[in-house]
Amino acid sequence: MPRSSLTAVVRPAAATDVAAIARICSTAYRDAYRELLPEGYINRSVAEFYSEQRIARDIAPSLPDWFGYQVVEEDGRVLGAAGGGMTDPSTGELSLIYLESAAQGRGLGTLLLDRVTEQIRAAGGAEMWVSVFLGDSGGIGFYRARGFQPMDTVRATLSREDDHIRSLRMRRLTAGTATR
Ligand SMILES: CC(C)(COP(=O)(O)OP(=O)(O)OC[C@H]1O[C@@H](n2cnc3c(N)ncnc32)[C@H](O)[C@@H]1OP(=O)(O)O)[C@@H](O)C(=O)NCCC(=O)NCCS
Repeated sequence: MPRSSLTAVVRPAAATDVAAIARICSTAYRDAYRELLPEGYINRSVAEFYSEQRIARDIAPSLPDWFGYQVVEEDGRVLGAAGGGMTDPSTGELSLIYLESAAQGRGLGTLLLDRVTEQIRAAGGAEMWVSVFLGDSGGIGFYRARGFQPMDTVRATLSREDDHIRSLRMRRLTAGTATR
């Protein structure tokens, strides 16, 4: 497989992408965090965010806080998804980014990140943030490689008091960050 793709395109998701996005996000989430997070938390999160019903509701933008799902496609196949929005007039958030395992490591995540970054910049965002589970060396490595810096930690979304699951908040400026 080539190291980078010349034929991949990023586009806004359509209703016909719902099943592919649900499958990719659920599978990648379980694979990425199996060793790191309790099974109950994983099941709760996947059911809450990556069911087909939830994704169908979230496909379209709800501006300014959600730009709608974006997908990366190659040879007519959806291989990954991402999404983000604005949390205040000058600040954006990357909410999620997941690729099929066979599609990881050849630049498609960067293409998706570039798209959401461009949306944030176009909406007036000077900086963008992302939450990544503490201990997720893969996610943290990706964001570090793309210029994000660790800022603080917070209790993870959906984490109950007794789960003790924490997220690292990472930040970068949007100016001059597009990588291609
Ligand atoms: C994280 C993810 C979106 C990255 O996309 P990708 O297409 O695999 O990454 P890219 O090929 O664009 O890599 C971009 C940079 O990040 C680095 N990187 C990517 N994955 C990494 C990892 N697991 N560990 C360390 N660095 C990593 C690459 O080395 C590259 O840096 P370089 O340009 O200096 O060589 C993708 O691998 C994925 O979906 N992983 C599983 C789910 C996940 O962890 N999502 C993030 C949750 S917060």
